[in-house]
Amino acid sequence: MEKLIGNNKILTAVFVSGRGTNLKSIHKYSNKKHSKINLKLVVSDKLNAKGINYAKKNKIKVKIVSYKNKINAEKQIAKSLRENNIQLICLAGFMKILSKNFVKKFKNRILNIHPSLLPKYKGLNTHERVIKNKEKFSGCTVHFVSEKLDSGKIILQKKIELLKSDSPRSLEKRVLNLENKLYPKAIIKVLSRI
Ligand code: GRF
Repeated sequence: MEKLIGNNKILTAVFVSGRGTNLKSIHKYSNKKHSKINLKLVVSDKLNAKGINYAKKNKIKVKIVSYKNKINAEKQIAKSLRENNIQLICLAGFMKILSKNFVKKFKNRILNIHPSLLPKYKGLNTHERVIKNKEKFSGCTVHFVSEKLDSGKIILQKKIELLKSDSPRSLEKRVLNLENKLYPKAIIKVLSRI
C-alpha cells in the first residue's frame, strides 16, 4: 500500500449490500480532520440498499453493479476503483463473494467485518449459531480478505459476554454496536503500519 505522506488521505471505497451502519461509521471517521482516509466511493450490488440512500444523501459517489454475470460485475467494479484511484476497500455487509482473481489484484487492500469471534462462526447466521451452542462470549472481527471466506489475517476483535436473555436479534444489535466502533479503529491500525 502507498505510504501516507503528509496529509494525503488514503482513498477508500466501501462495499455494501444492505443497511449500511458500518458505512455510516466509516464515513463519520473519514470526515474527521485527522482521519487517515477519504471515503470516495460506495459500491453495491443492490440498487435499493439502505446504505446507497445514505451515500447519496451524503454526496458520496455511488457505483451500482448488476451481478447477473459475476465476471462482468467485477470488471466494472475494478474499472470504477481504478478511475477513482481507490487504495483501500472496506467490505461492510457486502453479500457477494469476491473472486480469487479480484482478491489477488487488491491483495492486502481489502478489509471485511464479520459478526463473530473468528475463526469461530464463519459464514451466515452467526448469532443464531452462537446462541444455539450456548457460547459464553461473542463479538466481532475486522480482518484482511483472503481467497478463503472469512479466513484472512485478523486485524482487530472485540468481545462481549452473552446475556441469559439474549435472542439472536438482541445479540445482533449489541454486536452491531461494537462493529460500528471497531471498524474505524481497525482502519487506523492498518494504516499506521504503513
Ligand atoms: C454486519 O453485521 C457485518 O458484520 C456483516 O454484515 C452486517 C452489515 O451491517 N458482514 P451494516 O450493513 O453495516 O449495518
